[in-house]
Amino acid sequence: MKVVFSEPASTKTGAVAVLVMEGGKLGTAAAALDKSTKGALSKAIKVSRFNGKKDQMLEVVAPTGISNSRVVLIGAGDGLEATDWQAQGGRLVQRLNASGEKDATVRLDADIEEVADGAANLGFGALLRSYRFEKYKTQSDADSRPSLKRLGVHVKGASTARRRFQPLHRVADGVFETRNLVSEPPNQIYPESLAEEAKGLSKLGVKVEVLGEKQMEKLGMGALLGVGRGSLRESQLIVMQWNGGARSKPPIAFVGKGVTFDSGGLSLKPAAAMMEMKWDMGGSGVVIGLMRALAGRKAKANVVGIVGAVENMPGGAAQRPGDIVKTLSGQTVEVLNTDAEGRLVLADALWYTQERFKPSMMIDLATLTGAIMIALGTEYAGLFSNDEDLADALVAAGAKTGEKLWRMPLGGSYDKMLRTDAADMKNIGDRNGGACSAAQFLSRFVNKTKWAHLDIAGVTWVSKESPTVPKGASGYGVRLLDQFVRDQAE
Ligand code: BES
Ligand code: MN
Ligand code: ZN
Repeated sequence: MKVVFSEPASTKTGAVAVLVMEGGKLGTAAAALDKSTKGALSKAIKVSRFNGKKDQMLEVVAPTGISNSRVVLIGAGDGLEATDWQAQGGRLVQRLNASGEKDATVRLDADIEEVADGAANLGFGALLRSYRFEKYKTQSDADSRPSLKRLGVHVKGASTARRRFQPLHRVADGVFETRNLVSEPPNQIYPESLAEEAKGLSKLGVKVEVLGEKQMEKLGMGALLGVGRGSLRESQLIVMQWNGGARSKPPIAFVGKGVTFDSGGLSLKPAAAMMEMKWDMGGSGVVIGLMRALAGRKAKANVVGIVGAVENMPGGAAQRPGDIVKTLSGQTVEVLNTDAEGRLVLADALWYTQERFKPSMMIDLATLTGAIMIALGTEYAGLFSNDEDLADALVAAGAKTGEKLWRMPLGGSYDKMLRTDAADMKNIGDRNGGACSAAQFLSRFVNKTKWAHLDIAGVTWVSKESPTVPKGASGYGVRLLDQFVRDQAE
């Protein structure tokens, strides 16, 4: 689907969409259409529940008096924030795709505050919602295929809107990259193919290096390598650098869990729980998508993206419950449950990132625990941090973008859960507080660096659509962290 901005002009074909304010008050464009249709719009409002609320929409099909196929009334409430514009753009696309409409034009009233920004955000939300992953469907059902090919936005100052839309469009590219990677089946995305995808970013000016098992062995990444032992696929460490800021400025680092399939290893998952484990590389999907977004919009910031990519399988060479591994940090871990593998991968990836890049801050993303889903459901991702300012900044970026975070605790009692007689720590805590003890484990691999951990297990894959996110891989995190980088470094 294409989004096109232009100066206001009459539109005779396709759908036309206009704004209606709280209480059913028609905007200028809506009032004009109401007149042409001899009051069909005000009548439709009267006979429906629609009264212009900012999350409402009403479709009036084939009114007489105009040649357009339909009029869509977009609720604008008492004014729309950026995320409201995005949501309405998304709802519009969803509705028109359901109706089989091919072409639509939104006519925005000139007297709205920040209308160019609104137009750009409407286009952004529309684009985000238009996403589909249908690569492997050879027989797609004509009735459910998305129909909308073009969304025109008529706005006074179209060139400003276009300029505002440009970086948002690049962020959408990043979100789509993440959704694509997460949607791909695990026979297609495995550590080496994930690394190949990351290498594709070099076209945008991202420096990409990939370390294989030999190199990681030499460095001493025993924890990460232990997880990959049972797989025929070679583990990879992917290092991406985007240097858009001042040379002297230390980078912000993002570290992703890239378990391309999590069978649980010898601590094998039951069948029902294993079905969804292709998306256990969700954290790495966000890191790669974020790098695409930042490079695409030429962010004025220095950013590194690190991905620990492994497949967790129960092969003959697989690590056993009871094995003790030595991490890159030198600390030893007794692996009592091979299904608590994400923290082992991140332990080495975090240490590596901190030592090599001395980042100003380090943020990891991981589908780390089922426990975070129990705690927070699918509305919020869990945030753990050793720094108040960093936590606040992330929560603020979450509120701004609608990708919300809820702060969770770290501390001594979770740390005690990790004690074992056999080694410096074990890789599991108690049954209760599972997301917290997992985060606490990670904190043992961070020194004084400002650090935050986002447990995104509940938000990476959604079974229910929302205005800007179709069902499936959500791409949660790209918008949030793009905003965070803007706020912190640009
Ligand atoms: N990848 C899983 C966490 C997960 C579960 C993500 C469900 C998304 C949906 C992780 O590697 C895992 O298996 N965690 C275990 C930890 C336990 C063995 C301590 C869990 O959460 O059950
Ligand atoms: Mn696991
Ligand atoms: Zn996992």
